[in-house]
Amino acid sequence: MLYLNGEFLPASEAKVSALDRGCLFGDGVYEVVPVYSRHPFRLEEHLARLESSLATIELPNPYPRAEWARLIHQLIVMQDFDDQSVYFHVTRGSAYERDFPFPANVAPTVLINPTPLITPSAQTKASGVRAISHVDFRWLRCDIKSLNLLPAVLMREAARRVGCAETVLFRDGFLSEGAASNIFVVKDGVVFTPPKSHLILPGITYDVVIELCQNNGVPLEIRAVAEAEVRAADELWMTSSTKEVLALVELDGLPVGNGTVGPLAQRLDALYQNFKN
Ligand code: PDD
Repeated sequence: MLYLNGEFLPASEAKVSALDRGCLFGDGVYEVVPVYSRHPFRLEEHLARLESSLATIELPNPYPRAEWARLIHQLIVMQDFDDQSVYFHVTRGSAYERDFPFPANVAPTVLINPTPLITPSAQTKASGVRAISHVDFRWLRCDIKSLNLLPAVLMREAARRVGCAETVLFRDGFLSEGAASNIFVVKDGVVFTPPKSHLILPGITYDVVIELCQNNGVPLEIRAVAEAEVRAADELWMTSSTKEVLALVELDGLPVGNGTVGPLAQRLDALYQNFKN
């Protein structure tokens, strides 16, 4: 069951207009919240980020935060699986005329769609995954969780074709993030990650991992990370709501550190697993 514009209905019956601006222009924003044993993790933070994305694109928030939370909780109960990935988006709705500026008097489209949460298996966590890199050719507002996902689609597909799970992005010689994740780098026992800016999505998992480092005495520096530092790292991890903390053990065909999941990746994943429950 999903929620679409005020109705709860099976996915097979959910229809939006062919002229929806999400479809024509990618004119909308979205969120993905992980749900463990029917408890959404960091829902308030996801709703706060949604508010910020909506405000940035000048799309009025259709619901107050409490209403979003109520709808999401209602849907979580309706599913027949416990661990869920709750996707939701708001688009600027549909107007008859295809015109770029905002249409007047158009209702937004609201979709909330929970699906089973597929996190990396214990085996994948233990072996780590491989990654490639690419120039970050996205726009300069990567802090908005926008529906314009073509770069991520192309970069994840390029990774998949060569047996990799993620594409690590570099802009002007510095690490930005993954195609759909934030990236952490470890060198000599210190964790590094780029600061929040218009060049990366302010990840909810990124914030959790930073908190876990700070609360558990793991040395952490939030600063610009040069591409050369990434390539010389002892460990690399990707973080996201669906991948949690996942080690990258190979980058562009070369081993990261000794090519196995490092001790800090294991530690942070263990802390994360403990914290999320
Ligand atoms: N993607 N950076 C980008 C570009 C992302 O798309 C994501 C998440 C993240 C990590 O954010 P968070 O920790 O809040 O999940 C960073 C989601 C999972 C997706 O598009 O499916």
